[in-house]
Amino acid sequence: MSEKLALFGGPPVRSGQYYPNKLGDEEKQIAVSVLESGILSGFAADANEQFYGGKYVKELESLFCQRFSCKYAVTFNSATSGLHGSMIAAGIGPGDEVIVPPYSMSATATAVLMCHAVPVFVDVEPDMFCINTDLIESFITTRTKAIIPVNLFGLPSDMDPILKIAEKHNLIVVEDNAQTPGAFYKGRLAGTIGCMGVFSLNRHKNIQCGEGGVVLTNDKYFAERLQLTRNHGEVVLFSMGRNDHADVVGYNYRLSELHAAVAIGQLKKLDEFNNVRVSLANHLTERLKEIPFMTSPKVRKDCTHVYYRYPMLYDRNKLGISRDTMVKALQSEGIHVSNYVAPIYMSPIYQKHKYSESDNFKRRFPEYNGTVNYSLGINPVVETLYKEKMIYTNICMPPNSKKEIDELLDALKKIELNLDALINNEKGLE
Ligand SMILES: Cc1ncc(COP(=O)(O)O)c(C=O)c1O
Repeated sequence: MSEKLALFGGPPVRSGQYYPNKLGDEEKQIAVSVLESGILSGFAADANEQFYGGKYVKELESLFCQRFSCKYAVTFNSATSGLHGSMIAAGIGPGDEVIVPPYSMSATATAVLMCHAVPVFVDVEPDMFCINTDLIESFITTRTKAIIPVNLFGLPSDMDPILKIAEKHNLIVVEDNAQTPGAFYKGRLAGTIGCMGVFSLNRHKNIQCGEGGVVLTNDKYFAERLQLTRNHGEVVLFSMGRNDHADVVGYNYRLSELHAAVAIGQLKKLDEFNNVRVSLANHLTERLKEIPFMTSPKVRKDCTHVYYRYPMLYDRNKLGISRDTMVKALQSEGIHVSNYVAPIYMSPIYQKHKYSESDNFKRRFPEYNGTVNYSLGINPVVETLYKEKMIYTNICMPPNSKKEIDELLDALKKIELNLDALINNEKGLE
């Protein structure tokens, strides 16, 4: 019998915090030079160069274009605003439907709601967690205008079938690539395969500047609409005497010079950071072979994974305790693990508008003439992942090392050895 589980008063496998997603000296230096310049934003909603932002915003955009071999990069102050901008650029509006996977951060779908359009949720793959491309076509209607595949946890979605379906039905594809910068899909970089690709620079991501986003595209039309959305575009069109893009409502979605400067430092380290993630993830995958009740993540054929999160599938039948008990036991051993978010449609905003025949729905989407149903059970695969199977960890990020990975293994083995105590006390833990 090994030591008592921390859940029952024993010493935890790990004590102390994990390191935060750290910045280096390069980012500090460049941030100081921005502060010294006194110019914290270079934007103005004027029909001149300031419409496109300041020196660091432009440099960051140019570096993104180089790094991702892309014609246009438009920075935003978050991926959420970038996703909204992409929906506006795509011309999404009232009455339209946009296909999204339910397993993602909520902004993937709220970007659609922000355009008064209707998100249609298509279930995910049971083993790779991205949208299940076999299911997409059965959800396409005359109202469908776009698909937002989410490259989840660091793995690209299966883009070839998505592009084929999009071409057949004339749909715009916006990749939500917030979690997957630098990963490859069959030789192409994730986030550059659809019509637009949205990246996040928030504090949790593979590279970060606190808050920020970037949208990549090779299409001038989309780039222009993204720029207009970002910076009060209606003012500029008026000053320029232009009437095109008059449907675009402009926001203040501008990235500050300080954030752009930090992001420049981070972008230069993307490969270095991703290499650490991949190497720690490979070590974890190797070691998980010792654990019969946990399955390591699959990597899609001819693709690479950049492990924003390391997702594991838990099999309660092999151990006899629930996933939630397992998560609690690991967390009390001081190990970072978590369940991933609930399917997006479980949130109150969707549950309040569950049926298109309801008054709530009709009030919110008066122009919509289709049928939706957001009730529980619509996407069984994601619901099972959420309720029973998914456990992810973020310990594969730098500056962690194999030590942190081995601690997870120690904790899993400790739990296995103390199984009887857990089974006997599981009711009391709920
Ligand atoms: C898949 C996905 N999309 C969008 C976002 C929103 O990113 P941001 O916080 O930059 O708005 C996130 C953030 O967690 C995300 O993971």
